[in-house]
Amino acid sequence: MRIALRVNGEEREADVWAGESLLFALRERLGLPGSKNACEQGECGSCSVLVDGDLVCACLVLAAQADGHEVVTVEGLAVGEELHPVQKAFVETGAVQCGFCTPGLVMAAADLISRVPDPSEDEIREALSGNLCRCTGYAKIFDAVRAAAAQA
Ligand code: FES
Ligand code: FES
Repeated sequence: MRIALRVNGEEREADVWAGESLLFALRERLGLPGSKNACEQGECGSCSVLVDGDLVCACLVLAAQADGHEVVTVEGLAVGEELHPVQKAFVETGAVQCGFCTPGLVMAAADLISRVPDPSEDEIREALSGNLCRCTGYAKIFDAVRAAAAQA
């Protein structure tokens, strides 16, 4: 089936099969590999994207469900060469090690700060609770979110 959706501000179309995930379609059909596939079962958050403004695991959404909807991936956060404040903060605080979890964490943090510009410690932890990182121990990630929120 053919789907038409808006991705990072552009109208896009793709031929997908009925059971295909949005994550697969983004990565393999639309040339957007920023959203990562780490578990493909909704456990790790590395595939997090916004669909109509809601943070979702793209591995759990059918590509067909995104037909006619608006998707924002990590590739859509920067404005030209200018990184999103959360991306900048992740770089500056050293919150990235292997980087596999980073796109999902950046999406979750950006979503949090857009909704709650001055999040509490508990709100940060809750917002990132669906995102697993095997490398960092999370301390630098929380530092990055605090730093980004302070600039918001
Ligand atoms: S790949 Fe989607 S939650 Fe892990
Ligand atoms: S930086 Fe490696 S999984 Fe998070």
